Amino acid sequence: MVKRGAFIVFEGLDRSGKSTQVARLVESLNQSGEKAVGCRFPDRTTTTGKMIDSYLAQKSELDDHAIHLLFSANRWERSQAILADLEAGTTVVCDRYAFSGIAFSAVKGLSYTWCQSPDIGLPLPDLVLFLELAPAAAALRGGFGNERYETSEVQIAVKDMFERIGSDVGSERWKVLDAGRDVDAVEKDVRGRVEELLKKVEGPVGKLWA
Ligand code: TYD
Ligand code: MG
Repeated sequence: MVKRGAFIVFEGLDRSGKSTQVARLVESLNQSGEKAVGCRFPDRTTTTGKMIDSYLAQKSELDDHAIHLLFSANRWERSQAILADLEAGTTVVCDRYAFSGIAFSAVKGLSYTWCQSPDIGLPLPDLVLFLELAPAAAALRGGFGNERYETSEVQIAVKDMFERIGSDVGSERWKVLDAGRDVDAVEKDVRGRVEELLKKVEGPVGKLWA
């Protein structure tokens, strides 16, 4: 039987360096002979992804519950492919996941437990690397774009919500990394945590919030 791959998720505020770290980790794993693929949510290429993209670009309006469910559906669409990769021994490294789902919806006033429900049973990440950066430091990394949620007010509220989510996930699985360091230092830290994880990944993939 092949050893299954690890499911690793990066979370964090805008500009915390998630996308860079996902790309570097996938590349370095592949270079060291470990099969790894990247993915990101939202996946803007699917039908739900196009609706999400239009909402984020402020080209369409949607009820807060409706957009929350679309983000969740966007993950469910991909879930079987993630499981198939993991079972085939490929590590999956994902840029945002259901934790962003809760954080961004709950700050708009939706119930926290309501926000969790549509994601119950999704593949459970073996490790969540939360790239922690002060909202003020994130703002210094470049001006905000024009997408929804790209304001310092939202980012500050989201950061607090992520803290609650992290404590619900538990410190065994949710690791906070200082993303204020230079990219190479963060990458080294990531690589160390992932090597530790890869030694101990076993058993079936868990189910989120179950
Ligand atoms: P993303 O595609 O990561 O944008 P970028 O990396 O270009 O900044 O994220 C888009 C936005 O969607 C981001 O503000 C977080 C938000 N989001 C949700 O509101 N719910 C979700 O479930 C997810 C995955 C993201
Ligand atoms: Mg963004």
